[in-house]
Amino acid sequence: MSSPGNRRIVSKPLVWAVVPAAGKGSRMGSEIPKQYLTLAGKQVLEHTLGILIGHPRITAVVLVVSADDVRWPIVAEQFEQGLNVVTGGAERCHSVLAGLNCLREHADDRDWVLVHDAARPCLRVSDIDQMLNNLNESVWGGILAAPVRDTLKRCSTNGEIEQTVDRTRLWHALTPQMFRLGDLRTAINTALESGLIVTDEAQAIEAAGGRPMIVEGHADNIKITHPEDLALAEMYLQIQGRS
Ligand code: C5P
Repeated sequence: MSSPGNRRIVSKPLVWAVVPAAGKGSRMGSEIPKQYLTLAGKQVLEHTLGILIGHPRITAVVLVVSADDVRWPIVAEQFEQGLNVVTGGAERCHSVLAGLNCLREHADDRDWVLVHDAARPCLRVSDIDQMLNNLNESVWGGILAAPVRDTLKRCSTNGEIEQTVDRTRLWHALTPQMFRLGDLRTAINTALESGLIVTDEAQAIEAAGGRPMIVEGHADNIKITHPEDLALAEMYLQIQGRS
């Protein structure tokens, strides 16, 4: 773990990152987990970690992998410093919690943590900067999000449209999601204790009574989910000049 150095005498909270990468990615239909598929000449995970580890405000990154993952050391050896690896759990929230627990002995509860999906390799440095600038003084933190553009329909189980949902004020939740380390750890623990499997960090904070902020991010920060997403991500990286 990277040393927090003189953090105890500096009042500014540090910023850490947790990257959950312990999913099976079954919707990709690939033998190889999606974070290890090749994208613009590198593995998906290399792109994701490169952006976070290379960011000057991020002190260290915790990568969360599944217990049977034999591929991570090859990716990790490319990052000489600032990367720590722990084993995740059954659901994404268990994996995130494992990452947060790893930070516990090195970080302060008031420090910020950015949780970012391994499967989102097209994250822009400018979006991280935007989050850090906008949320630095916030009470709860917040998430990167993109406004919903399409008309939304609520359907019955047999596929008949029942209702057109007003999309005003509706957003797609993206990652990173940025919260105080102590708040987030407590909120996820409390959610799990009450049987709530949260699908993102904001949901845990909301359940604890918090009001996370939205920071508008670029919609090209897609999550690789289906095989066709790789070609799209490759195009986005090319447009960003990263391939
Ligand atoms: O499955 P989904 O695409 O929603 O997963 C989002 C991220 O969470 C992925 O990077 C995946 O590897 C991670 N994850 C995890 N532990 C799980 C399930 C998902 O770290 N048990």
